[in-house]
Amino acid sequence: MNAKLAVFASHGGSILQAVLDACGQNELPLDVVLVISNNSGSIALDRAREQQIPTAHFSSQTHPHPNTLDESIVSALRQAQVDWVLLAGYMKKLGPKTLETYRNRILNAHPALLPKYGGHGFYGRKVHEAVLASGDRESGATVHLVEGDYDTGPMLSQVRVPVKSDDNVDALEARVKAAERKLVLATLGELVNRKLAAGY
Ligand code: GRF
Repeated sequence: MNAKLAVFASHGGSILQAVLDACGQNELPLDVVLVISNNSGSIALDRAREQQIPTAHFSSQTHPHPNTLDESIVSALRQAQVDWVLLAGYMKKLGPKTLETYRNRILNAHPALLPKYGGHGFYGRKVHEAVLASGDRESGATVHLVEGDYDTGPMLSQVRVPVKSDDNVDALEARVKAAERKLVLATLGELVNRKLAAGY
């Protein structure tokens, strides 16, 4: 039986789409059972609705108190019997109850070679702007298990891509995101298959 995955996303949801496509083609031993966003207008939520996947909007507007927000997220995950959580372009920190309930079961994708260009303020295009400004000749993406702070926790996998001399942010972002999508699928598949084989 497939494991159940919840995906958290704040904006475009291209990683979410790659996961939905892979699940739809039985390339991952997972079913996406819930998509959560802090942004009620996100394309990620539209992508989920298009495939009749349950969605939920949780934010400081829906839940002004952080503890209630955290508890409501855990309840929604439990109700959907979620086994794994993927943060795919999710711009908020998870609360302590969610982190504890799903310890070692929450993955985050980051569009850089962590620990470089990670943490508060390094998100989306800002990451690629910083890489270009640094003169680094390579960038990439990282998938890691999630701990309390932004972009922290044990690293699971990385992929490297070149930074070209004529790159701009759009070109570098597109190259990193293409590699990142493949990395997320491979890492999720490997991790979940390993746990399934161990009969968790
Ligand atoms: C990804 O590069 C992810 O690593 C970062 O935000 C981007 C999300 O892209 N945190 P999308 O919303 O999946 O298109």
